[in-house]
Amino acid sequence: MTAKFSSIPADRLPDLLQAMPKAELHMHIEGSLEPELIFALAQRNGVALSYPSVEALREAYAFTDLQSFLDIYYAGASVLLKEADFHDMAWAYFLRAKADNVVHAELFFDPQTHTERGVAFETVIRGLTSACERARSELGISSALIMCFLRHLSEEDAFKTLEQALPYREHFIGVGLDSSERGHPPEKFARVFAKCRELGLRLVAHAGEEGPPEYIINALDVLKVERIDHGVRCVEDPALVQRLAQQGTPLTVCPLSNIKLCVFKTMAEHNLRTLLDAGLKVTINSDDPAYFGGYVNENYLETFAALPLDASHAYTLARNSLEASFVDEAHKAGWISQLDEVFARAA
Ligand code: HPA
Ligand code: ZN
Repeated sequence: MTAKFSSIPADRLPDLLQAMPKAELHMHIEGSLEPELIFALAQRNGVALSYPSVEALREAYAFTDLQSFLDIYYAGASVLLKEADFHDMAWAYFLRAKADNVVHAELFFDPQTHTERGVAFETVIRGLTSACERARSELGISSALIMCFLRHLSEEDAFKTLEQALPYREHFIGVGLDSSERGHPPEKFARVFAKCRELGLRLVAHAGEEGPPEYIINALDVLKVERIDHGVRCVEDPALVQRLAQQGTPLTVCPLSNIKLCVFKTMAEHNLRTLLDAGLKVTINSDDPAYFGGYVNENYLETFAALPLDASHAYTLARNSLEASFVDEAHKAGWISQLDEVFARAA
């Protein structure tokens, strides 16, 4: 099905990666806050920042691991206070997504980062929802929200967050698990995920970014997630790789994030091609694009520049992103036929 695209010349790849319709399934909306917007919102809200300028803030984006990033990421989010702030942040992301030919985006948001500072859950969800509706009507982008629990906090806190969220149940499609992975295994959230499952929410979790393969196994077996966010450390357990391939469990891989957080030293050492060769349903995503040096198309471009990947891989990755999304089959089929057209024209 896809091998026929291998003959598309490599110099056509950048245009093809740009033009192909794609879904983005792993993007933390708070991670799309560009330094310029952080400063503008700080000024609008009278929030003091500990960096004197946009340049100084950007220079601080030199991370050694996940935690060193999270410390700055939570500080950046402190400028978000009002509904309009959440709207403006998400709208800025959707404009970037449009430029990258993203047809569908499933956005993570971290309510606890905001409710802990006294911002109401309602403020967060209303601002994000209105941006999603605007993206649909003005840009033709389909989107959905996935609420993440912060895993460095307790399961009791996660239950409280779920309770706050339930009056807005129609505004989000699922739940995820993010923040500091090591020392906070999936099973810590077994009961709250079971509750979310009963409620009919879609389930995902970050696992195997910095944490070991057992975290991926427990995300599947204990939390019963449908997709694994990151998951790159699965390669350390061949039986797990085989299982993921057999089940067709999607991995939402974030190549630039992995380099910036030192999961891999260089892009040339990234295991994305290995994962694809093992038959895994790999997707490419931006994670926290304002912090990691690029939106989704930059992730595709830099990955393809560094690894032995051709147009057949591009097709597979874009198709995987559409198939792994939580939308109905009719929408998926429509986007896949658009994708087929783009590749037919290029071939
Ligand atoms: N990993 C875990 N938590 C996060 C990330 C990530 O890459 N981005 C934002 N929160
Ligand atoms: Zn993430």
